[in-house]
Amino acid sequence: MRLLALENLSKVYNKNTRSETRVLQNCSFILNKGDFLIISGESGSGKSTFLNIAGLLDKEYDGEYTIRGQAVEKHNSNQLAILRNEMFGIVFQDYVLVEDASAYENIIIPLYYSKKYKRKERRNRIHEITQTLKIEDILNKSVSQLSGGQRQRVAIARALINDPDVLLLDEPTSALNQDLAQGILQFILSFGQKHHKTIVLVTHDTQNIPNVFNKHYQLADGKMTLC
Ligand SMILES: Nc1ncnc2c1ncn2[C@@H]1O[C@H](COP(=O)(O)OP(=O)(O)OP(=O)(O)O)[C@@H](O)[C@H]1O
Ligand SMILES: [Mg+2]
Repeated sequence: MRLLALENLSKVYNKNTRSETRVLQNCSFILNKGDFLIISGESGSGKSTFLNIAGLLDKEYDGEYTIRGQAVEKHNSNQLAILRNEMFGIVFQDYVLVEDASAYENIIIPLYYSKKYKRKERRNRIHEITQTLKIEDILNKSVSQLSGGQRQRVAIARALINDPDVLLLDEPTSALNQDLAQGILQFILSFGQKHHKTIVLVTHDTQNIPNVFNKHYQLADGKMTLC
């Protein structure tokens, strides 16, 4: 089943100014339910730019974006916020956490806007996810006091907490040492398989792509190519 499609996608930063930067040019992208998809490309090729658009955080682009057969542009900003919260769990490359809130407060943000879980289920989910990510004992700490790897795991917990259909992961284990990175990626992938999630993983490590991935797009020179 087709979950989302982007057609003729182009993105230009600072259009018509001296710092105009063309990033994506007439890209096409299709995501089906259950896909485990890799996006690779050199630094600056537009991977994060693409994820921001796919994750409904950036509306400044040219092209047609359809989610479950519906044009994204037909949604108002309130509907888009709800759709984003229900559908996507996003781990940003630079985490985007609320610095002066605690790890716990950051993790539960997606639950505020969601009716998916009752109080007890919420508690269980928080416990299970934070235990697996080994961040249970830092939950009360302010994000500003956390290490890079701890922040990254808080961001992963926040992305998983509301059980989204699609995980958009921008190098989600880049700040972790190799063993922890392996373990946490494995956890995300088996979580994805067990719960029939759809996963988009941005990575530069194309040597070691786990074999659960079924699609690979490469970004270069503004173009997205299916490998
Ligand atoms: N907010 C912005 N304003 C202007 N230019 C931007 C902005 N964000 C990104 N760019 C430019 O767009 C291009 C693509 O950036 P992007 O962050 O999408 O690359 P990337 O593939 O994610 O790189 P990396 O692997 O280093 O994370 C770069 O040339 C970057 O300088
Ligand atoms: Mg990036």
